[in-house]
Amino acid sequence: MIIEPRMRGFICLTAHPEGCAQNVKNQIEYVKSKGKINGAKNVLVIGASTGFGLASRITSAFGCDAATIGVFFEKGPAEGKTASPGWYNSAAFEKEAAQAGLYAKSINGDAFSNEVKQQTIDLIKQDLGQVDLVIYSLASPVRLHPTTGVLHRSTLKPIGAKFTNKTVDFHTGIVSEVSIEPAVQEDIDNTVVVMGGEDWAMWMNDLKEAGVLAQGAMTVAYSYIGPEVTEPVYRKGTIGRAKDHLEATAFEITDALTSIGGKAFVSVNKALVTQASSAIPVIPLYISLLYKIMKEEGIHEGCIEQMQRLYADRLYNEQNIPTDEQGRIRIDDWEMRADVQEKVAAFWKQATTENLSEIGDLEGYKQDFLNLFGFGFTGVDYLKDTNEMVLVPSI
Ligand code: NAI
Ligand code: NA
Repeated sequence: MIIEPRMRGFICLTAHPEGCAQNVKNQIEYVKSKGKINGAKNVLVIGASTGFGLASRITSAFGCDAATIGVFFEKGPAEGKTASPGWYNSAAFEKEAAQAGLYAKSINGDAFSNEVKQQTIDLIKQDLGQVDLVIYSLASPVRLHPTTGVLHRSTLKPIGAKFTNKTVDFHTGIVSEVSIEPAVQEDIDNTVVVMGGEDWAMWMNDLKEAGVLAQGAMTVAYSYIGPEVTEPVYRKGTIGRAKDHLEATAFEITDALTSIGGKAFVSVNKALVTQASSAIPVIPLYISLLYKIMKEEGIHEGCIEQMQRLYADRLYNEQNIPTDEQGRIRIDDWEMRADVQEKVAAFWKQATTENLSEIGDLEGYKQDFLNLFGFGFTGVDYLKDTNEMVLVPSI
């Protein structure tokens, strides 16, 4: 069928299999162009199908020549209905990995469940024996708790006071004011349950108990800090509490892995257009101003550039892993540069519907958003009939 983007609010209902494949190929080419990384050999990526997790999987495989197992929660295709982008990304990734002679298998299911954890352990035992790197890159609005059976929902709310600031509808370019009511305690608690570190610790505990973590294994989860303008809705809001919890959990996991000399890290990443970040009010306006400035400075990065730098310059730089005073790896260093942030703050004050396409990179935002779903790639003929029934080989 001919597949076109169909937008509804902050999501696109369709995805293009060949476009998603092109996206994966482009990321592979980038990683290869940067040369080999003497790093991980057997990698488990939890949240491996889109965003930072997909880029981590690609860097592991095509940068380090690693075998990878990817866990994700994606919708497969049906006749006349496209799969979710992460499904097509994973199908393309497995195909490319096989062609390069690299082991790659995937598990599609709820990573929060005991069943998927067990399935993953069984697969590692069967095929790899042990893994030496575990990337934890889940972004989910809900979590069904495996022991209590309670379905928790995360929220993106400020804490303590109502927050009013500018935002942009990136589809229309209209800049407006948005107000968000403050969270109640239950919102905070639920967000911590969904996006905090509990599930990460459960994964690492189960993997260790099963004996499938190699001596000296590392695990890395992703966090965000960001600028003052987004603080009330991000770092000092409900999601920020979850990130505080995630960051604290890294130390607990490291303690729990003492007997195998394992280590847990949080990497603070750059703000990027992903399905997760597009849903957060205020952030898209920030990102469009940030992109413009970082592109002008020649320091703009997407997920793949960020992950390649994380592996090559931080995790596997053959010296100590550099961290901040709180023990976090920082690859948001260029985003947070004082000169960059000063410019964003100045443009933030000026931003209106009329001037945003000039002072911000609204086009870049839109392009990145389309790309998430496999649209807008050169080299793909979008007018041509395409097969939506593309399957992930290992599923
Ligand atoms: P994303 O939405 O692109 O990826 C989420 C991944 O989680 C997908 O592979 C999806 O299939 C998987 N997933 C979701 N629910 C699942 C479930 N129940 N079971 C199994 N898999 C499930 O998100 P993105 O942006 O790559 O986020 C990954 C991490 O990076 C998150 O912790 C996020 O907070 C963090 N981060 C994101 C930034 C951004 O600007 N996008 C900036 C810094 C950190
Ligand atoms: Na991800």
